[in-house]
Amino acid sequence: MSQQEQWKSKLGFILAAAGSAIGLGAIWKFPYVAGTGGGGAFFLLFLVFTFVLGMPLLLGEFIIGRRGQSDPVNTYRKLTDNPKWSLIGKLGVFTCFMLLSFYSVVGGWIILYILKIFTGAFNGLTQDQYGALFGEIIANPLTTLTAQLVFLFITILVVAKGVQKGIEVASKVMMPALLILFIGLVIRSLSLEGAMDGVEFLLVPDFSKLTSESILFALGQSFFTLSLGVSVMVTYASYLPKKQNLPQSAISIIALNIVIALLAGLAIFPGVFSFDLEPNAGPVLIFSVLPAVFNQMPFGMYFFLAFLILFLFAALTSAFSMVEIIVAAVTKNKQEKRKKTTWIVGILIFVVGIPSCLSYGVLADVKLFDKTFFDLVDFAVSNVLMPLGALLIAIFVSRKVSKDVLYEELRQGSRISQSFFSIWYFLLKYVTPIAIIVVFLDVLGLFKW
Ligand code: PHE
Repeated sequence: MSQQEQWKSKLGFILAAAGSAIGLGAIWKFPYVAGTGGGGAFFLLFLVFTFVLGMPLLLGEFIIGRRGQSDPVNTYRKLTDNPKWSLIGKLGVFTCFMLLSFYSVVGGWIILYILKIFTGAFNGLTQDQYGALFGEIIANPLTTLTAQLVFLFITILVVAKGVQKGIEVASKVMMPALLILFIGLVIRSLSLEGAMDGVEFLLVPDFSKLTSESILFALGQSFFTLSLGVSVMVTYASYLPKKQNLPQSAISIIALNIVIALLAGLAIFPGVFSFDLEPNAGPVLIFSVLPAVFNQMPFGMYFFLAFLILFLFAALTSAFSMVEIIVAAVTKNKQEKRKKTTWIVGILIFVVGIPSCLSYGVLADVKLFDKTFFDLVDFAVSNVLMPLGALLIAIFVSRKVSKDVLYEELRQGSRISQSFFSIWYFLLKYVTPIAIIVVFLDVLGLFKW
């Protein structure tokens, strides 16, 4: 058994776990699913799911991760006597694999946008032209595939180097920079003509817009943005020293994540309404709206460039965590196998991701269940596999690990009270599983409303 590596500092862990959480989910996915799912009501539901289900789960993953001090598969084996539970870890590894296969496609789009800026292609276009330009860029199979490959290449290069050097150091500078740039962007966006319609769309709930499907999307989104249900947080917490305050870490990560999602929403929707666009444009939403907003700023293209670099970084730190858990599971944390495994995993993900990448070009008309490959994999990962993993983890933590062990582990590094523990335990044991099951059944049409 190899000695578990540990994070260098307390801040290092929070930044790395927040780095996993904050990524395309908050910045790219949130605006488009909120736009499709009904705006304010969706946002509210997302918040409720995040606090009532996401927070207890995140803490649950931290607790078993630090307790198990192992890889995502063996952690479950170590904490119970029934080896079948390690399937949760395997499911998480598979989910991350599929997730990265389309995540890297979007990562590639960001890279292409960065390159395009240098050609001056975004200067002074009309809104329609921005939309058309993006369509043109992502329809080209050769460039998008190359960009996806580059995104994966960077990810693999960093992860192959190992947890500490690879992930922790890089996370420290970029996150605050992203936050600052976002605030600037929101200020510009809010001063666009008609901006308040966008703010209203995002913040004022209209519950008549909710459907069974948008409820499922809100549930999936709350797990997606916190990297839950796939044992990523379990794995990251296994590199933690006992003195880390787990509840505090969970709360900071959730708060940061919500702030970023809110800022993303406030940056996008005023633009959408001001430029007369459709909020339900789907995955392409932010790519067609943001250049137009930046274009309205002085030195806009420089800021846009800075934004894209930080955005790329946020996507990369999430991608690192996906590869990290796959590699940790395959190598069982044996350092000597790390490099080779990481490269093989990267190549496989690229191959599996090809159809998703081509979904906006040559395979645009190939549909399964009325969805393109890209949409199908996204849907399966975000709205089926992640909630399913979350359900299993909630059951595992609350019913398979003894209450005393949980309490003891939670209290290491924090001084939480017995009543905090009881509320947390209740949420995880009853509320989380029941809520996930009800949302699933609702989508299957079991409740008529
Ligand atoms: N939370 C990441 C994001 O929002 C996505 C992610 C999910 C990363 C699951 C790791 C595991 O972009």
